Amino acid sequence: MARDKVILAYSGGLDTSVAVKWINETYGYDVVCYTCDLGQGQDIEAIRQKALRTGAVEAIAEDVRNLFVDYFVFPSLMAGALYEGKYPLATSLGRPLIAQRMVHFARQFDAKAVAHGCTGKGNDQVRFDVTFQTLAPDLKIIAPVREWRWTRTEELEYAHKHGIELEAASQKIFSTDQNLWGRSVEAGVLEDPWVEPPAAAFEWTVDPIDAPNQPEEIEIGFDKGRPVSLNGKEVDGALLIQELNRLAGKHGIGRIDHVENRLVGIKSREIYEAPGALVLHEAHRELEFITLTKEATRFKTFVSQAYSDLIYNGLWFSALHQDLMAFIASNQQYVTGQVKVKMHKGRVYVTGRKSEFSLYRYELATYEKADQYDSSAAQGFIKIHGLMQVTQAKHQMLRGPAGGHRLELPSILPPNDIN
Ligand code: ARG
Repeated sequence: MARDKVILAYSGGLDTSVAVKWINETYGYDVVCYTCDLGQGQDIEAIRQKALRTGAVEAIAEDVRNLFVDYFVFPSLMAGALYEGKYPLATSLGRPLIAQRMVHFARQFDAKAVAHGCTGKGNDQVRFDVTFQTLAPDLKIIAPVREWRWTRTEELEYAHKHGIELEAASQKIFSTDQNLWGRSVEAGVLEDPWVEPPAAAFEWTVDPIDAPNQPEEIEIGFDKGRPVSLNGKEVDGALLIQELNRLAGKHGIGRIDHVENRLVGIKSREIYEAPGALVLHEAHRELEFITLTKEATRFKTFVSQAYSDLIYNGLWFSALHQDLMAFIASNQQYVTGQVKVKMHKGRVYVTGRKSEFSLYRYELATYEKADQYDSSAAQGFIKIHGLMQVTQAKHQMLRGPAGGHRLELPSILPPNDIN
């Protein structure tokens, strides 16, 4: 009799390979492995073959780069999403898509469970589990690494005992995750936030010191907030990002060193490489500076932060996300135009921006003859603008401290001794 099936998110690495066998033994399920191409630069067909050799009854490998870019990456760019002002969210954006595709195949294979290789200390378990619980509350969730609680040595012993193929991957000195929006690198020597990341932590970027002396200029075109062209030529989103990763990486752009606040209550030190993401965020932001009003720019910083937190915290499939996205789409409708970007020794400089919808108006800004700004209106404006501050100074501050002495600020800590 056929056994019940589980869909396992399979990376081809040690943990998920061991998980195939472990789920077989522990839960008695047949394992269907799921692997996708998010632009991480791996041969997913080779991973699929490995899954089958490792004991999966079926293995799926699919290219979801376009879905990833159109539904996850570019919307996050339009939202200006940098977690804690630094991290472009590559890993966080990939998880809900992987989980959603797994639910899709769980239905197709009539599976009873889904499984992932996340540990019990990270954010990724949250992103997977919450997505599964939201889209398919009937499916059982198995998280082998969180459940078996083995040391590295115990895991390797289990692998040897069951003849599971080991690769160089099991000797890796860092824990990494990557897709076309960026690479995440943690653990090993990086766990000491005082230690400078060694050269071995980086794969996509050269050390800025070794970058070419000659700067390189490119032009990026946007349409309603989405990047659509490079150097005047229309390009597919995934290709554009991959090309920018190569170009900016060569100039030492994209290294991020962050001690971040995880959802699960710990601070962790992570190194990111996101050359294309950083260039695009920088260019996009500059285009917004000429196309959004001052008020829209100010307000959007709140939306960007709320959006980043929501995505980082695994709440992709929430109504609030839908609501924020409605704002963002509307807010981006005139963010169309071109940005010139110079890359040099680890830095991105925006050197020019233009838009058919630009709110930068020469006839308002110029000091030359073409000036149409009504300077005579300024005096009256200034008088009203400053009126309350002038009144306050006269009746409060210029009179000195209230009651003749400076205010003692109250403590928020009540005394222990209350007798
Ligand atoms: N800290 C990042 C996040 O929560 C990346 C997590 C995965 N990192 C890794 N090195 N495996 O989105």
